[in-house]
Amino acid sequence: MAAAAKDVEQKIEALREKIRYHEHLYYVLDNPEISDTEFDKLMQQLQQLEAEHPTLITPDSPTQRVGGKPREGFVKVRHSSPMLSLDNTYNEEELRAWERRVHELTGRKDVDYVCELKLDGMSLSLGYDDGQLVRGITRGDGTVGEDVTLNVRTVRSVPLSIPKEKLKKAGIPVDFEVRGELLMPLAAFKKMNEEREMKGLSLFANPRNATAGTVRQLESKVTAQRRLDYFAYGLLQHGRTYFDRHSKTLDALNAAGLKVNPNRKLVHSMEQVWDFIGQWEGMRDSLPYEIDGIVVKVDRVALQDELGFTGKAPRWAIAYKYAARAGITKLEEIRVQVGRTGKLTPVAELAPVLIGGTTVRNATLHNMDEIERLGVTIGDWVLVERGGDVIPKVAKVIVDKEHPRGHKTFHMPEVCPVCGTKVVRTEGEVDYRCVNANCPAKLRETILHFASRGVMNIDGMGEALVNQLTDRGLVKDVADIYKLTKKDLLSLQRFADKSAQNIVDEIETSKKLPLERVIYGLGMRFVGERTAQFLAEHFGSMEALEHASQEELQDVNEVGPRIAESIVEFFSIAANRKLVERLHEAGLTLTGQKKQRGTKLAGKTFVLTGTLAHFTRDEAKKMIEDAGGKVTGSVSKKTDYVVAGGDAGSKLDKAKELGVKVIDEKEMGKLVG
Ligand code: IVH
Repeated sequence: MAAAAKDVEQKIEALREKIRYHEHLYYVLDNPEISDTEFDKLMQQLQQLEAEHPTLITPDSPTQRVGGKPREGFVKVRHSSPMLSLDNTYNEEELRAWERRVHELTGRKDVDYVCELKLDGMSLSLGYDDGQLVRGITRGDGTVGEDVTLNVRTVRSVPLSIPKEKLKKAGIPVDFEVRGELLMPLAAFKKMNEEREMKGLSLFANPRNATAGTVRQLESKVTAQRRLDYFAYGLLQHGRTYFDRHSKTLDALNAAGLKVNPNRKLVHSMEQVWDFIGQWEGMRDSLPYEIDGIVVKVDRVALQDELGFTGKAPRWAIAYKYAARAGITKLEEIRVQVGRTGKLTPVAELAPVLIGGTTVRNATLHNMDEIERLGVTIGDWVLVERGGDVIPKVAKVIVDKEHPRGHKTFHMPEVCPVCGTKVVRTEGEVDYRCVNANCPAKLRETILHFASRGVMNIDGMGEALVNQLTDRGLVKDVADIYKLTKKDLLSLQRFADKSAQNIVDEIETSKKLPLERVIYGLGMRFVGERTAQFLAEHFGSMEALEHASQEELQDVNEVGPRIAESIVEFFSIAANRKLVERLHEAGLTLTGQKKQRGTKLAGKTFVLTGTLAHFTRDEAKKMIEDAGGKVTGSVSKKTDYVVAGGDAGSKLDKAKELGVKVIDEKEMGKLVG
């Protein structure tokens, strides 16, 4: 190798080492030495060098956490040994009974235990071969899990590779398996749900569900944005525990650079276990993630082996579960909230009650069906539960002598509490809605949708800013965003010169986003991201879309009478036409490239599976879509064709089972013409 090339290679490797070192400090030890900006700079340098020398890119480079194309599904993988669950205990008596059993079965009384936090996420196995991360597998049913490696690679606290010397020092062989808990920290959970709310998407009930939803994303890019974290608590080789003490396992994993929860303790008696449990019950709210109890494990592996398993749980470990944090309080009133789509949500106003360190004043009642199920009336005493959930919820009505029942029955208002328009409940739907497009409550939510990342991507225009803008009357519709000046922003709270300028710049940049984003941003009912894309391609301009008839609209891919009607209705309102005109004047992109999609495959749904020999997945998808067809990820009765390449797996089986037509690439080629 030429000397210069060798130099570059060394430079790149040194930079990677440096980045890995800082990643470890930041993501594993929570103790950074350099600022985020300095870290980003190092990363940019590496990206730049790798871009100039693409042959030198290695899979374990810190730049390669996100990569690969979206997948169609996850491959099932058998675990090296079953991933077990834990038996639960709920009080001291049950815990003592467990201890007695340990004593009886081992014939010893001097047993050491390790106490750990019971992290509320999902268990995940990591496979390392030759020090390189090669597998991430979910627990699944305990015997067979799903291969989520590409998504796991995006978790910053999971090392992509561990140097051999480091493993040696930690006493770990180069081929090994780690077991641990994948979780979503509360801050990331909150942020994600806020973003989902803005987009009118359903919210995840708690961080555990959010973790599971995130790690099963088909696009690792999405997983990467959501900032999951991973704590290791097990080390296996060939399916067997490697060290002779659990406490050694944890220390070794830590020494190898994996993240091991520091809140753990090796103890020598049940009294000490009980102290640990009591101590963390009071402190659990200070943690940046959810825990639902404490796990107690017998330290010596020889004793673990003697104790063995019952069914699907080991006898050598037990979970002590904390009670759900709940409180009893009086439900004083039921208020109704209006969302972007006009949905009315009943919210309980409570006499303030302290639950797990937080004062709770409101709790959701979800909808009218839930109120009926609970049988709750205004004035009742209720049990309020607060999990990792977004908003506390009313769990049940207290019915006993000390708590008199309320008497006022709640009814959904007949008119919107914000604008006074008549409320509608569509036949067969649970929710009540306000149908006034100009309802001020909807305005706030509409602006948030318009500014959100997937739409006009105005970074910084979140809830806090939008509240101020709408409250002050500075923004009365989405076009007003483009009239905002730096001076306007400086007049608001928490704005300094730089932050105001940033927003102004963001707004300016958004003008360049393509037509489909603006169409999506208008928030027409039933017009989502994909439909907006088809509309933009078909009509090529907002003007053409505005003047399209119902029939013309239905010529567009995937647009049926319901969507066509909604679009026509939207443009029939003068205020909406005026709004579009103002967006035009503001300089937004209202024209685009017309693209004729064929109609040959209109209405036909395809699923691609296996490895195609002649095209990439994306190319095949594009061909089908250009011919008017639709490509989806999973096979159902509605699928018209499954295109099977080499090594096709479960989707092919499913197609056969359902009697869906299976074709090869060649036949697909003929179909698309
Ligand atoms: S040990 C055989 N340790 O709790 C050992 N599990 O209810 C099984 N969990 O599936 C796991 N924190 O997902 C262990 N410190 C911890 C844990 C933990 C959370 C989860 C794990 C397991 C579930 C069982």
